[in-house]
Amino acid sequence: MSEKQNIQRTTAVVLAGGTGQRVGLSLPKQLLKIAGKTIIEHTLWIFEESADIDEVIVLMTEDYIPQVEEIVANAGLSKVRKVLPGGSTRNETTERAIAAIGAELGEGEDRKVLFHDAVRPLLSQRVIADCVKALDEYDAVDVAIPSADTIVVTRTHGADGEFITEIPDRSRLRRGQTPQCFKLSTIRRAYEVAASDPNFQATDDCTVVLHYLPDVPIHVVAGEEQNMKVTQPVDIFLADKLFQLASHTAPSQPDDEAYRQLLSGKAMVIFGASYGIGADIAEMARGFGATVFEHSRSGTGTHVERHDDVEKALADAYAEAGRIDYVVNTAGVLRIGKLAEADSKTIQQATAVNYLAPVNIARAAYKYLAEAQGQLLLYTSSSYTRGRAGYSLYSSAKAAIVNLTQALADEWGKDGIRVNCINPERTRTPMRSKAFGGEPADSLLTSRAVALSSLDVLLSSLTGQVIDVRRQDPSRKCDLSAAAIERMAADEA
Ligand code: CTP
Repeated sequence: MSEKQNIQRTTAVVLAGGTGQRVGLSLPKQLLKIAGKTIIEHTLWIFEESADIDEVIVLMTEDYIPQVEEIVANAGLSKVRKVLPGGSTRNETTERAIAAIGAELGEGEDRKVLFHDAVRPLLSQRVIADCVKALDEYDAVDVAIPSADTIVVTRTHGADGEFITEIPDRSRLRRGQTPQCFKLSTIRRAYEVAASDPNFQATDDCTVVLHYLPDVPIHVVAGEEQNMKVTQPVDIFLADKLFQLASHTAPSQPDDEAYRQLLSGKAMVIFGASYGIGADIAEMARGFGATVFEHSRSGTGTHVERHDDVEKALADAYAEAGRIDYVVNTAGVLRIGKLAEADSKTIQQATAVNYLAPVNIARAAYKYLAEAQGQLLLYTSSSYTRGRAGYSLYSSAKAAIVNLTQALADEWGKDGIRVNCINPERTRTPMRSKAFGGEPADSLLTSRAVALSSLDVLLSSLTGQVIDVRRQDPSRKCDLSAAAIERMAADEA
């Protein structure tokens, strides 16, 4: 085959054949839940959403194959073609994948293959795209990042312990990540040669190419710190935190006609619809042909904190429209002040509206959303990731909303109900003006922008997600640039 052969298809192989002994739990670490989903499901979604990946093959620890099949079916992961048993070592797992893909190829046909650790659930679309592109040029591609730590080589001298024998030049050292990517013909050949070596030893796939096909250059694509491998117990906490900071975006529809097609005939109930984001969602959704029922204290006398009010609002909407596809709650109160100085009425009100109301709404909406296979959409605030002085009631309730979103997405996944929450950056709303007075307009998002993103989320298959809406849309899955970190530090409410 020529070097520049145009390979049509790309397969992502998700390596999940390990048991995760270093994490030390009773089930394989790839089945651990982080941010509302198993680690392997997060990883599978990344490939599902990549325009560069045509199909996915999973190699799973044998006893847990049915669990992965269930995850795939429930999530509707359409690119996953097969879930096969992994091998007893990581390399054996790779070999099984090579055999499975190879068996399907016709004579002279080749394939781009990305081998990715299931336990790296924060891989970015940028890295995937760069890898797939690099395979146009190269037969082998690795992903690596510079090493922040000095790496030392040691030797153990019996009971005396370890001693340094070498300190390689750090500027040339990189830490290898995944995906490791190859033309199938190349990695297959490397393993064929390796098979005749009785001393074969490797922990990754690039080593196999490097040792057994030394003439094949292995191109390096820049990895990312957040593409971490969940290996030690502490990594579970780190990954969880990174997921909290991750930006998820819902695909937007190409034009108004697409919104119209998706929304016409659908029924939406909005609580907190008298102004701001709620009012804008109502106006847009109605403009696209949805039947919208708007509820608010001032408009319909609906108190979201009262369960009976919420039940009645939903029952009336159902009686009229015959269905409820979307339930949206934008009602909220923002009271700033020191907790020790707050009276109990303020505390009760804030907690009732910001936390109890979403609980009420969720409980009452369940049966309707189950019938329509619909979605519940809630709102949090960027303060949910860290409580701050003056915001204790607001930000702790907003943190609870994120937790509630994840819990309900999990609880209701089997019923076909999606649950998400929007995390808008500081938004120009009457609630915000009341709390903060005039702020420079260009420092705030418009509520229409948040409303449109809300429609995108309602029309997407996302569930259990916190969707960040920012002025500039960071297309990166987990934006840890200096600017993003500065913004995080400056963001409030
Ligand atoms: N892996 C695999 N088949 C194996 C061993 C590992 O597919 N026989 C996969 C793991 O499931 C993981 C990736 O390779 O996604 C990276 O391996 P590592 O984190 O070292 O996984 P474990 O072997 O699961 O962990 P440990 O070494 O702590 O037991």
